[in-house]
Amino acid sequence: MKRIAVLTSGGDAPGMNAAIRAVVRCSAYHGVEIYGIEQGFEGLMDGNFRPMDARSVGAIIQRGGTILRTARSTRFMTKEGQERAVYQLKANGIDGLVIIGGDGSFHGAWNLHEAGVHVVGVPGTIDNDIAGTEMTIGFDTALNTALEAVGRLRDTASSHDRIFIVEVMGRHSGSIALSTAVGGGAEYVLIPEMAFDIKDLCRKLRSARANGKSYSLIIVAEGVMSGEELKKQLADQGYEAKVTVLGYIQRGGSPSSYDATLASRMGAFSVECLLAGQSGVMTGIQNGRMKAEPLTTVWEKQKQLNPELIDLVEKLSI
Ligand code: F6P
Repeated sequence: MKRIAVLTSGGDAPGMNAAIRAVVRCSAYHGVEIYGIEQGFEGLMDGNFRPMDARSVGAIIQRGGTILRTARSTRFMTKEGQERAVYQLKANGIDGLVIIGGDGSFHGAWNLHEAGVHVVGVPGTIDNDIAGTEMTIGFDTALNTALEAVGRLRDTASSHDRIFIVEVMGRHSGSIALSTAVGGGAEYVLIPEMAFDIKDLCRKLRSARANGKSYSLIIVAEGVMSGEELKKQLADQGYEAKVTVLGYIQRGGSPSSYDATLASRMGAFSVECLLAGQSGVMTGIQNGRMKAEPLTTVWEKQKQLNPELIDLVEKLSI
C-alpha cells in the first residue's frame, strides 16, 4: 500500500477534521503517500484529488465541519458513477480509500469494495445510528449542543410555567432525542423507534401538573413529526406549547474531547486496517476498544437504543 486517499461524505459531523488529520498523519507516519478528495463521492468521480502531508492538517483538530467538504451524491448511486470513481482511483494510483461518513456513505463504500477497491469506513454522523460501533464521531458534541440549549430553555420555561417542545435531529434514529431527554431531564420524548400516542403525552402532562410541576419539557426527534405539528396536536387537546427547532446548529462547532479523541483513534486505525490488508470494514468502538467491523453489519443489523434510557425518562420525570 503506497498511496491512500481520504474523503468525507454525507452530513458533516464535529470531529470529521480530527479524523482527516489522523488519517493523514498516520499515513505519513507509516511512509504512505496521502491524498484528500474534495466533496465526497462527487469529487471522487470528478478526480478532485489533492496531495496532503502532515503539515496540511495542522490546526484543524478542533475545527467543526470538514476541510475536504462533503456532499450527498445521487450520481454516485448509478453504475456509471461508480465506474467513473474506480477509474479515477486507478488513474491516480490510489491503493486504498478511507471514507468518513454515515450509513448512506457506507453503501457507497461497499460498492467500491465489491469493485475491487481497498476501502475502510470511519463512522462520522451525529445520529449515532450505525450498528457495529457504540459511538459515531459527532454524536457526543451534538448532544452537548442540544443539552446546552435545553438548559437555556428550562430557564425560560420554568420562569413562565410553560410547556416547551424541543425538536432535535434524527430522521430515522432517536439516539439524540433520547439522550437529550435523559441528560436534560425532559418529561417526555418522542422517537421514531417507539409508537406515539398523544393521549399518553397528555396523561403525562396532567400528572406532571398534579405532582406540582409548573413547566414541562418535551423532546421530539424530527423523524416522528415536526415540533410545530406536535404543538398543533397538543393545542387540539387544550395544551399550549412553545416550540424550538435546534436544526443545523447540532451539526456545527468544535468537537468535544470525546469526539476529537474518538476521531483520532478511528482515523489512525482505519489506515492501520488498510496497511494490514483489510477492506470492506469500518472502524468501530466496542467496550472501549477499536475493532474492524464488516461494513455489511451496518445494514444487516439495526442499532438498538438502550432500553434503560427509555425507562429512565419515565422514572425520573415523576
Ligand atoms: O447528519 C445527519 C442528519 O443530521 C440527520 O439527523 C438529518 O435528518 C439529516 O442529516 C439532514 O441533513 P441534510 O439536510 O444535510 O440532508
